[in-house]
Amino acid sequence: MDGPATIVIFGASGDLTARKLIPALFENARKGRLPAGTRIVGVSRTPMTDDEFRRRLFESSCRSLGDACRPDEWNAFARGIHYIPGNVSTPDDGARLHRQLRELEDDRSSGRLYYLALAPALYPAAIASLGAAGLANQDRGWGRVVFEKPFGHDLASARELNRTVLQVFDESQVFRIDHYLGKETVQNLLVLRFANTIFEPVWNRNFIEHVQITVAETVKVGSRGAYYDTAGVLRDMFQNHLLQVLTLVTMEPPGRYEANALRDEKVKVLEAVRLPQREALDEFSVLGQYEGYRDEPGVAADSRTPTFAAVRLYVDTWRWKGVPFYLRSGKGLAGKTTEVIIQFLCPPHMIFDVPEGQTIQCNRLVITIQPDEGIHLSFQTKVPDHGMALRESMLYFHYRSSYPETPIPEAYQRLLLDAIRGDASLFIRKDEIELAWRIMDPIIGGWAARDTEPVPAYAVGSWGPPEADRFMEHDGRRWVNGASLHHDA
Ligand SMILES: NC(=O)c1ccc[n+]([C@@H]2O[C@H](COP(=O)([O-])OP(=O)(O)OC[C@H]3O[C@@H](n4cnc5c(N)ncnc54)[C@H](OP(=O)(O)O)[C@@H]3O)[C@@H](O)[C@H]2O)c1
Repeated sequence: MDGPATIVIFGASGDLTARKLIPALFENARKGRLPAGTRIVGVSRTPMTDDEFRRRLFESSCRSLGDACRPDEWNAFARGIHYIPGNVSTPDDGARLHRQLRELEDDRSSGRLYYLALAPALYPAAIASLGAAGLANQDRGWGRVVFEKPFGHDLASARELNRTVLQVFDESQVFRIDHYLGKETVQNLLVLRFANTIFEPVWNRNFIEHVQITVAETVKVGSRGAYYDTAGVLRDMFQNHLLQVLTLVTMEPPGRYEANALRDEKVKVLEAVRLPQREALDEFSVLGQYEGYRDEPGVAADSRTPTFAAVRLYVDTWRWKGVPFYLRSGKGLAGKTTEVIIQFLCPPHMIFDVPEGQTIQCNRLVITIQPDEGIHLSFQTKVPDHGMALRESMLYFHYRSSYPETPIPEAYQRLLLDAIRGDASLFIRKDEIELAWRIMDPIIGGWAARDTEPVPAYAVGSWGPPEADRFMEHDGRRWVNGASLHHDA
């Protein structure tokens, strides 16, 4: 690996830094994966010394790791942590930061990663400040910038932000995060499809009847009410995580595992998604809001923000023409799970007698992204000593039992390391982010315009509003709810 890097985190006193970024960097350091001599420099407005900053991070990050956080390892790691107070909206602070970074680095840095762990409204100011201070230049080593989600709140704002960013940085320097792509099981989707031969021949409209992608959360909005009420589930989950999973399920195999080859294929999928028509919203989408949402702190008393949505999309390609993709996500639901259900077609002709009023469960592949990461394949078997009676059986794969010695790491570990190494495979390119907004805009805008209609309510602890079940029944299908929650492998 290259020489030492400098990781500059803007928003250093914030929640993301404490709960995700520092623990992920610490884990990488413990595993010997950070370039030796790498420095972490926190920047935010709160006045603090290096020691105060380190103590604060120890409280929030290291303590939460429990026994995994050994003080000797933490102390060695913390020696590389520094703090520089600064305001990204104050031009002089940018120039001062540049000087202080040079002093700290003492000409011993291969490059810098600027991580914007800031409210998105501050992105333009931060970019302008980095540009004005000459921090985007790569004349003394590489320079990369990482953006957290959300990147824009609609297509127009995402385009505008891209324009602003690309006036200062080159696209090759820009790393837009979707932390779902940092999840091992999301990456395993590619391995499942492209490192095996048995799935790919049936991975198309000739064998797949429909696909469900569900991201279900039991938690409610909690302390994020004020933010969430301006976003809602379609912006918070669909535009990024759900569409990203959709691209990995549906993309063609790239020629090689390389950032632009991969992203080219994902872009082709997003371009092929049939654009939802605003006039026919009810035909392809349903929203919901959990009961009590309007009483949450920070939420407007008359809020129409959806906390649940289900959307049917089509990918108009030879491979997928006519196959419905059902995307669904919500808060306050009955189970916490992220899973992809690949529902295969039923046998074209059934030669076995199936008892009156019963049907068989046709083959189904369940890919669980979290929490019990794994894969289940269902198929029919003959029940012994019962004539030709049939029953559904399962083949299981679980990360937990297959790799007991290797706990699944947090997504940020991989993503931070990739950004430091300059591998953008798991980051979102400019065209990808804009195409994703292009798909979501008509749905978000269409429902927002129907502001006299009530948003269907659902009980906390259910699987969404009854309207979502009727939506599926209308298509002659049923939601698969928490398929992986009920299996003990
Ligand atoms: N927290 C999460 O789990 C999570 C998950 C996914 C995405 N994100 C995204 O990550 C970003 C940060 O989220 P967060 O939860 O960490 O927010 P947060 O806790 O509110 O932290 C915001 C940080 O920005 C700093 N800040 C505010 N104004 C500033 C300015 N003018 N100049 C320099 N620093 C400034 C604040 O520190 P001072 O007040 O000291 O300046 C604070 O350190 C957001 O875009 C969010 O959407 C967060």
